[in-house]
Amino acid sequence: MKVGVLCSRIRVEEKLLFETMEKRGIPFERIDDREVIFDFHADGWTQYDVILERCINHSRALYSLRILDDRGIPTVNTFEVADTCGNKLLTTSALVRAGVPTPRTLIAYTPESALEAIERLGYPVVLKPAVGSWGRLLSKINDRDAAEAVLEHKQILGTYHHSIFYIQEYIHKPGRDIRAFVVGDETICAIYRKSSHWITNTARGGTATNCPVTPELNELCVRAARAVGGGVVAVDVLEDPDRGFLVNEVNYTMEFRNSIEPTGVDIPGRIIDFVVRVAKEGWAAANGWKEPMEAIT
Ligand SMILES: Nc1ncnc2c1ncn2[C@@H]1O[C@H](COP(=O)(O)OP(=O)(O)O)[C@@H](O)[C@H]1O
Ligand SMILES: [Mg+2]
Repeated sequence: MKVGVLCSRIRVEEKLLFETMEKRGIPFERIDDREVIFDFHADGWTQYDVILERCINHSRALYSLRILDDRGIPTVNTFEVADTCGNKLLTTSALVRAGVPTPRTLIAYTPESALEAIERLGYPVVLKPAVGSWGRLLSKINDRDAAEAVLEHKQILGTYHHSIFYIQEYIHKPGRDIRAFVVGDETICAIYRKSSHWITNTARGGTATNCPVTPELNELCVRAARAVGGGVVAVDVLEDPDRGFLVNEVNYTMEFRNSIEPTGVDIPGRIIDFVVRVAKEGWAAANGWKEPMEAIT
């Protein structure tokens, strides 16, 4: 059994994953995405039984997973999961397809149609870049003046990607949201992220406390994970005062340093268990699926 870990800068998370494998005597090799060269026309990579992708850069993760998946090298996660989760538009589409409750979201391609979509939803709305994380470049728009200003800024100062307008209703959540960690067919733990700011990411100062994984939360998060293709993911859940849990997004190479202590769950240990299972039994079995296509249903 040999695990390849594709990564760049080693964060706390990668250190913990390495330590777990060292402790268990699982041979692994670190593959630095700043040095890696993929040669389509040469053999290689078959020395690994599985590749754990831990890149910081989304494009590097995505392309590497595509190449490895096409070569038949098992990966955690798959290209499909990374592709969907790395893009909020694709994630929302997958969640809606699977019937997973999610905030109402509209897509528009021009500032004019985006303004119309915003007015259709009603203020406040949240605008998000389709690709992004750590709460960056999110805007909560409270009125038409702000909408016009943000749309003009995006049009004139933004790249092409900012002309894909992802427009979402604002959920009046109770000063917190939920981040739930799913590994295969189980929600292994969850935290509340509390903040006085409407953006509750821990990278933006939100504080983490344990959130009990009720059967309802477990079921919802496993359904959300399955909707994007399964694997090891972190599901962001918003609590709506009337509708209850709504899945906001699903993340595919998550950070988890702030969630081990409050939950008491060995997150890196559970990730490595899954990686080993993928190597030995394949993706579907590791996810607890009888059929490979169960993710699509
Ligand atoms: N529609 C919304 N209503 C209320 N709060 C939101 C909404 N969307 C995002 N947030 C807040 O902003 C945070 C970051 O949004 P998210 O969509 O998860 O983007 P990122 O990929 O940057 O984490 C969420 O954790 C939540 O606290
Ligand atoms: Mg998030």
